[in-house]
Formats: sequence, structure tokens, C-alpha cells
Amino acid sequence: MIDSRRIESVAGSSGLRPTFDARTPYEVFEREHRILREGVAGLRSALRSEPPGSSARLVESVDTVRGQLALHFAFEEDSGFMHYLRFARPALVPGIERLQSAHREILAVLTRVSTELNNGLSGIDVRATIAAVLEHLANHELDERELLRSALLSG
Ligand SMILES: [Fe+2]
Ligand SMILES: [Fe+2]
Repeated sequence: MIDSRRIESVAGSSGLRPTFDARTPYEVFEREHRILREGVAGLRSALRSEPPGSSARLVESVDTVRGQLALHFAFEEDSGFMHYLRFARPALVPGIERLQSAHREILAVLTRVSTELNNGLSGIDVRATIAAVLEHLANHELDERELLRSALLSG
């Protein structure tokens, strides 16, 4: 049976070829993260321009980023560089496990923020939490970039 999650990714959902290719490892990696950064920019913009008393656009942006990240994380784990390195570089498995824990944490925070906004909290109430989770996400991307780079350098 074909697991449909294996071919999904944020790049794949926009019609681009989503397969991780060990010969060109950075190509898919960069494309994926470029699309994510566009979603994050939309969320930052919604956070800045949220009118008092309304959180509709902010909820939509949080949910959009959360949906993109859920696809992206599943792709990394099941078909992307983590899946590849887990078999090609067993010594890196502890680092991969830490990155996967970060996936769970980031999604959990965004789910909580979305629920809180739907329950009546305002953008001001969740601003610090969103800023913190976006910083976590940026650091996470740096960590996985470093893991991939070190794996490729070690041949
Ligand atoms: Fe990741
Ligand atoms: Fe990533």
C-alpha cells in the first residue's frame, strides 16, 4: 500500500517535485524552507497589523503556518533528509531524534495558540508566544542545516 504522506511536502503541494535526492540534497531542502519562510512572513505581518478586537487574520495565519509545518515535518521525517540520514548515517540518529522532538513541540505550541485565539485571546496576548515559537523554528532550521552539512562533509 502506498503511504500518501510520503510524497507530501510544502513544495510538493505547490506542484514541485518533493523527492529528496541524495545527489542534490540542498535543492529540496532549500525549496521547502523557502516556502515555509513565506508562510512565516505572512504570520509576522498578521501579528503586526492585527486590529484590536479581531484575531481572524491572525488565526488564519497561525493555522496556515501550522498546516505547512505539519506537512513539512512529516516530509522531513518520512521522505526527506532525516529519513535518508537515519539509514545512511546511523551515528546521527540521536541528533535526528532531537530534531523530531522539536517538530512535536513547535506544532503543539501553534495548536495551543490557535485554540487560545479561537477562545477569545487577542494578538497581544499571544504575541510573545508566537515570537518565541518562530525563534525556536528558526533555530531548528539552523540545527538541521548544520546536521545535513556535517553529514555530507563526512562523506
Ligand atoms: Fe525540521
Ligand atoms: Fe525543516
